[in-house]
Amino acid sequence: MKIQIINGPNLNLLGIREPSVYGNGSFEDYLEVLREHFPEVEIDYFQSNVEGELINKLHEVGFSADGIVLNAGAYTHTSVALHDAIRAIQTPVVEVHISNVHAREEFRHKSMISAACKGVILGFGMDSYRLAIEALKEL
Ligand code: DQA
Repeated sequence: MKIQIINGPNLNLLGIREPSVYGNGSFEDYLEVLREHFPEVEIDYFQSNVEGELINKLHEVGFSADGIVLNAGAYTHTSVALHDAIRAIQTPVVEVHISNVHAREEFRHKSMISAACKGVILGFGMDSYRLAIEALKEL
């Protein structure tokens, strides 16, 4: 099974950025934990701060990967283009967030991409990614 994780803007700074919200660990360290947890799954990772690059990645893997775990960061709340890209591909996408966006500022309560995704997992810290992979494995 092939799973693509896609992280959006500012998620390259996990471990440094607002640790009280996002924790102290880098995503690269967490990725090792994830890969050990799912030895049977091939997990690829891509991060970009650029909206168009996230769309290009969705197009690139969206007809061959078995599942996509997408944390679109702040583009979640703004991007019709990401919504359309998710709808345009065949691979199921699970939207994830590290924080519980509904317990935060109101501008984070709306997601432009949820309706295009298979499902949404949020608020469990980095463990949101593991839960998303568990869900994709059951599809
Ligand atoms: C986030 C939540 C977003 O509102 C925020 O812009 C992020 C991270 C999360 O994982 O909790 O960059 O997607």
